[in-house]
Amino acid sequence: MSATAPVRPVLPPDITARKGGVPLVVLTAYTTPMARLVDSHCDIALVGDSVGMVLHGMPSTIGVTLEMMILHGRAVVRGLGKAMAVIDMPFGSYEEGPAQAYRNAARLMTETGAPAVKLEGGQHMAETIAFLTARGVPVMAHVGLTPQAVNTLGGYKVVGREAEAAKVMADARACEAAGAFSIVLEKVPVGLAGQITHALRIPTIGIGAGVECDGQVLVIDDMLGIFTDFRPKFVKRYADLGRAADEAIAAYAAEVRARAFPGPEHGFADQVKS
Ligand code: KIV
Repeated sequence: MSATAPVRPVLPPDITARKGGVPLVVLTAYTTPMARLVDSHCDIALVGDSVGMVLHGMPSTIGVTLEMMILHGRAVVRGLGKAMAVIDMPFGSYEEGPAQAYRNAARLMTETGAPAVKLEGGQHMAETIAFLTARGVPVMAHVGLTPQAVNTLGGYKVVGREAEAAKVMADARACEAAGAFSIVLEKVPVGLAGQITHALRIPTIGIGAGVECDGQVLVIDDMLGIFTDFRPKFVKRYADLGRAADEAIAAYAAEVRARAFPGPEHGFADQVKS
C-alpha cells in the first residue's frame, strides 16, 4: 500500500471555499514544462489568451482562436498533478450568446480535460454565465480591464475610478449572482477591489488590483522576465530569465564560431570500448 494518499486535483468548489483564507496563488501557463513548475507552487494554472501575445507575438489577444486555446490547454493539463487548469474563452467564441458559449466551453473542457473556463465581461455576460454553470461548466469571470475589449476601452486602462466604480461593482455582483465560482479583477483601483472583495462571497483574484483580493494572478513570462515587450506597473519581476537566456545563447554562438563546442565529451567514439 502506498504511504501517501493520491493527490486529488483542485476543483472549482475548492477554490470558492478558499474565500477569505490563505490567498490563492495563480499563474498563467501555456506549455507542459511551465505547467509542471506552476503545479508545484500554485492553486490554479490559467491558460490565458495572453498566450497570443506572449508566445505567438500577436499585438493583442483579439486574434487568439479556440484551436490555439485547445492546443495549449492540452499541453498544460498534461503537466498538472494537483493545481486546477482554467482555460480562457477567446474573443469571438462566446459573445454571441449562451448556446455559442456552451458549445465552445464544452469543446475546451472535453478536448483538454480542464475543469473550468474563464470569460471576460460583467452584467452583459450574466445570462451566459448562468447558462454555462447550470449545465456543468464552471466559470471564472473577469471584470475591470478586459483585454479583449481593448478597442472599445481605448487602451489597457485602469477601469473603476470615480463614476466607473459603481459599474465595476455591479459587474462583479452580476457575475457572482450568475454562478461564477471566482472572479478576476484586472487593473481595478485598490480601494474598489477591496470593496468588491468584501462584498462578494466568491474569491476575487487580482491582477493590478491590490493586496486585499483573495488571490493574485500574473502572466508567468512577465514575472520571470521572459516577455519584455512592455511591462505593466503591476508586474513584479521575480527573475530575469530573458537576460539569462540571452547570455546563454551568446555563449553558445561564440563557442560554435570558435569551434569550442562541441567538446570531445559531447561526441561519440568511432568504436565502442570492449
Ligand atoms: O490572459 C490572461 O493571461 C489573463 C490574465 C492576465 C488574468 O486573462
